[in-house]
Amino acid sequence: MSSGGSERVAGAERAVRSATARAHPNLALVKYWGKRDEVLVLPHQSSLSLTLAPLSVTAAVELGVGAGEDEVTINGVRAIGQERERVLRMVGRVQAGRPELAGAHVVTAGDFPAAAGLASSAAAFAALAVAARAAAGEKADARAASILARLGSGSASRSVQGGFCAWHRGDRVDGKDSYAEQLFPPSHWPEVRMVVAVVAKEEKEVKSRDGMRHTVATSPYYGAWVEDAEQEVTRAVNAVRRRDLEELGMIAERNAWRMHATALAADPPLCYLKPKTLEVIQAIARLRAQGVPAWFTLDAGPNPVVLTDEKSEPTVTALCRGLGADPVVPCSPGGDAELVGELPA
Ligand code: DP6
Repeated sequence: MSSGGSERVAGAERAVRSATARAHPNLALVKYWGKRDEVLVLPHQSSLSLTLAPLSVTAAVELGVGAGEDEVTINGVRAIGQERERVLRMVGRVQAGRPELAGAHVVTAGDFPAAAGLASSAAAFAALAVAARAAAGEKADARAASILARLGSGSASRSVQGGFCAWHRGDRVDGKDSYAEQLFPPSHWPEVRMVVAVVAKEEKEVKSRDGMRHTVATSPYYGAWVEDAEQEVTRAVNAVRRRDLEELGMIAERNAWRMHATALAADPPLCYLKPKTLEVIQAIARLRAQGVPAWFTLDAGPNPVVLTDEKSEPTVTALCRGLGADPVVPCSPGGDAELVGELPA
C-alpha cells in the first residue's frame, strides 16, 4: 500500500513514500542459463517457469528518506557489499531523475529460509520491483515491473506474475523487449505440483550468476544449449496449453540435463550434483516406471524439484523423505505479486 509522511529537511519539504509487496518464487521448466548483457541482465535464450505457492517473500520500500541514508535489510540482517548494491541499483531505477525520492530504506523478509532449498532472490526482487514502483507512484504495470525485477535478478522477471510465465529473451540492446509475461494463470492447471526435495542445505559453491558466466565463456556446448532451449520453450508452452504432464515432464527433465551438461562441459567443469541428487533422480525414474507421473528438474544446485500432480504428490513426497531429503516442500501454482499492508510480524 502506498502511504506517505512528510518532513522538512533543510528548508525543503520531502515526502517519504512507502509501499510493501509480496511475491512467490518460481521454478523454471525450461531454464535461463547465460546472459548476453551482464549489466541489463539480458538472457541469451527465453525460459518458462511456474510460480510457486505457498512460499513467498515480502519487501517493504521507503523512498525519499534522504540522500546518503540508504539501508537494506534482508531477513533481519543489514546487507552490505554486492548484495546491498544490487538492491540499491535496482531501486535507483525508479529514483532516477526524481531528487524528491533520494534515499531508500528496503526491508525484505522471506517465509522460506535457505533451508527450503529454493533461491529466494527471484521472489525478493519481484516483490521489491512491485513495491518500489508503487512507492514511486508508478501505476501497476506487470511488464514494467518484470523489466525492473530482471535488473535485480534474471529469474525475478518471472515472479511478478503467477501461473506459467515465459521470459522472452528479446532482441533490443536496451532490454525493453526482454520481460516475462503470464501465459496461463494458476487456474489453468491447479492440479500441478512441484515438490522441492532438499538434499543439501549448505550454500552452493558457485552462484548461478558466476556459474552461467563461466559456462558462456568456456563451454563448447553453449551455442547448442541456446538453440535448443529456445525451441523447447515453444514445445513446453504447447504441453502446458494441453495440460500434458508427461510431455511437460519429459521436456523439463531433458532441459535440466542439458543445462547441467553445458555446465559440466565448462573449463574447469562445473558440477552442481551431489550423490544424493542422483539417488533422488534415479528413484523418481523408478517411480515413473511403476506408473506414477513424476519428473525432476534441477536448478544450479543439488536439490531436485519433482513435477507431479495433486494425486501423486503424497507418494512423491514420501519417497523423497524416505531417501533422507529434509525438508520436502510440496508447492502448487502461485498467484501474482501483490501490494500488501505491511511486513509480516
Ligand atoms: C538455474 O536469476 O539467479 O535457476 O540473473 O544472475 O541473478 P541472475 O541469475 P538467477 O539464475 C537462475 C538460474 C536458474 C535457472 C532459472 O531460474 O531459469
